[in-house]
Formats: sequence, C-alpha cells, structure tokens
Amino acid sequence: MAFRNFLYLLQLICAVTLSLAATVQVTPPSAPPSDNVTTVYSNFYGISLELSFINYYFGNDTSSIPQPVLNYLSALHNRTDGRPVRLRLGGNSMDSSTYIPDQQQIIEFTDPTANVNDQPVSYGSVLFDVMKATSDTIGGVDWLIGLSLRDPNSTNTPLVAGDAQKVLGDDLDAFLLGNEPDLYTSHGDRPGMANYSVYDYIGDYWVTFGNLANTSDGDVLSLDKIAGPTICCSWDLSAVLTSGWLSDFNDRLKYITLQHYPQNK
Ligand SMILES: *[C@@H]1O[C@H](CO)[C@@H](O)[C@H](O)[C@H]1NC(C)=O
Ligand SMILES: *[C@@H]1O[C@H](CO)[C@@H](O)[C@H](O)[C@H]1NC(C)=O
Ligand SMILES: *[C@@H]1O[C@H](CO)[C@@H](O)[C@H](O)[C@H]1NC(C)=O
Ligand SMILES: *[C@@H]1O[C@H](CO)[C@@H](O)[C@H](O)[C@H]1NC(C)=O
Ligand SMILES: *[C@@H]1O[C@H](CO)[C@@H](O)[C@H](O)[C@H]1NC(C)=O
Ligand SMILES: *[C@@H]1O[C@H](CO)[C@@H](O)[C@H](O)[C@H]1NC(C)=O
Repeated sequence: MAFRNFLYLLQLICAVTLSLAATVQVTPPSAPPSDNVTTVYSNFYGISLELSFINYYFGNDTSSIPQPVLNYLSALHNRTDGRPVRLRLGGNSMDSSTYIPDQQQIIEFTDPTANVNDQPVSYGSVLFDVMKATSDTIGGVDWLIGLSLRDPNSTNTPLVAGDAQKVLGDDLDAFLLGNEPDLYTSHGDRPGMANYSVYDYIGDYWVTFGNLANTSDGDVLSLDKIAGPTICCSWDLSAVLTSGWLSDFNDRLKYITLQHYPQNK
C-alpha cells in the first residue's frame, strides 16, 4: 500500500480577512510515545500558492526570483530539521489553465473577464525551472502540484505531469489530481451534468490514471505520487473514501488531501 500519510492542506486564500486567535492549551506528554505511531514531521505545514499569482511570488525566470522570497523560504527551511519545505502550487487556476511548454512568459492571462477566484492562464516550462531553482537555492522543497480533472481526457494533463516530473524529479512530492471536484457542479465545470457525483468522479479518476501511465516522461502513475480527493465543501470525506474511491486507487495514492477554509465548520 503506497498510501502512507495523511496530509491536510491548509488552503490560504490570498487575503485572509479572518483573524481567529483562539488560545489553545497544549500539554506535551512527558515521555515519548510507543513505536509505530503516526509521525508528524516538522515540515508538515507548508504554503499554498495559486498558479495565477505565481509571478508575483517567484518572478519571471530563474534569474529574477525575488531575494526576499528566497530569504523567507530559507528561514523556513532552517526550521524543518533538514527536511524540504512543503509548497503547493495549485488552486482553481491550476485546474483551469493550459500548459504551453515553449511559451516564453512564465504565465499569461487568457481570460480578462474571469472571476477573480479562478483566473485561467497559460504557462510555460520556465515555471518548472523556477520551481527547481527555488528548491536548489533554499536547500530543498517538496513540491505538490495540481493536475486538472476538469477534462479527464485532456492531453494537457499528462503533458504537465511528465514535464514537471522531468524537471523536478525527487523534488516533486505529489500530484494533486483535481481541485475541489465537489464544486464542479456549482462552478459550472461539468456543463450538461445536473449533479456531478462521486461516482462520476471515480470514473474520471480512472480515465486520467490511464493517461498518466503515458506522459512526456513515461509512466508517472507508477511513481505512486497521486494525491486526492482535495474536496472542500459539498462532499463528505468519509463518504468519498468509502464510495470505492479509496479501494480503487489506494495502490497509487500517496496522500489523502482535504481543503479547509476558515469558514468551514
Ligand atoms: C513496528 O512495526 C514493525 C514493522 O511493521 C514491526 O516489526 C514492529 O514489531 C512494530 N513494533 C511495535 C512496538 O509494534
Ligand atoms: C516580470 O516581468 C514584468 C513585465 O515585464 C515586470 O514588470 C516585473 O518587474 C518582472 N518581475 C521580476 C521579479 O523581475
Ligand atoms: C539559517 O541558519 C543559519 C545557522 O543558524 C544562519 O546562519 C542563517 O542566517 C539562517 N538563514 C536564514 C535565512 O534564516
Ligand atoms: C473520455 O474518454 C472516454 C473514453 O476513453 C469516454 O468514454 C468519455 O466520455 C470521455 N469523457 C469526456 C468528459 O469527454
Ligand atoms: C446530488 O447528489 C448528492 C449525492 O448523491 C445528493 O445528496 C444531492 O441531493 C444531489 N443534488 C441534486 C440537486 O440532485
Ligand atoms: C502514448 O502517448 C503518445 C502521445 O500522445 C501516443 O502517440 C501513444 O500512442 C501513446 N501510447 C499508448 C501506449 O497509449
């Protein structure tokens, strides 16, 4: 069973307006726990980055990554006990964007009328070079990157997966396949489908799994780096897990991922 960890991604929305500063009393145990308990490493918490803002954070190419960002990430790396800093590149825009390998600009907006929370871009392979350079400069990043499930048959998805794997190698921790599929219906991402269900989702997962076995970097499925379901709002996690999704894809899953917003109870 490849699936060996639970990772809850904290989705940090660009402007966090809520300040929930409840005091939590923590009483650490006086003795270490017994063997074989779940270990939460010091790099568990990471930072979530939305694709459509990536040039603000990381510049335009490998020679223009802003020094303050590198300093900040280095400072985090200094506090992870030598483990890579966990960074997630994803979001609605990762789900809606198109990868164009030879595009010179790191990103270009493709829909000026798009809703601010989902601005599609096209992006070039320089993005992966910048991610790799960041990792090399700060001493190690575990990158998690989104793969779109909006069109499960899209040939762009295996292209992204293969090219990212080629450039990032072991620095690519996981592929987050599908972003908030429980919102596909309400966001109109499955036109012609009144109610995109967990069973439709499982079917889509099968299709994309097949495609990930044949990418620009060969079979990335067998690397066992897939993460999901990355639901947030309308589906219940345990219902998804017991629907057949977990038993179907268990062999290839690295993480179970869930998005949690401050307003979620
Ligand atoms: C911990 O797991 C290992 C490998 O499965 C096993 O050999 C060992 O006996 C376990 N230890 C305890 C205390 O359960
Ligand atoms: C990236 O390119 C844009 C447009 O040319 C420029 O305004 C911006 O300053 C550049 N960013 C960096 C970090 O060099
Ligand atoms: C990392 O730690 C080293 C050793 O303590 C220190 O010299 C360096 O300034 C730190 N770097 C950052 C970016 O905090
Ligand atoms: C994807 O391709 C499969 C055949 O491999 C087809 O049955 C299915 O309808 C396609 N899905 C979409 C959303 O186009
Ligand atoms: C959509 O499907 C879910 C799960 O099967 C169900 O709970 C919900 O009532 C359905 N919604 C509509 C509008 O049919
Ligand atoms: C793999 O993908 C390539 C490029 O899309 C295609 O030409 C080839 O037929 C595929 N091979 C298999 C075994 O599906």
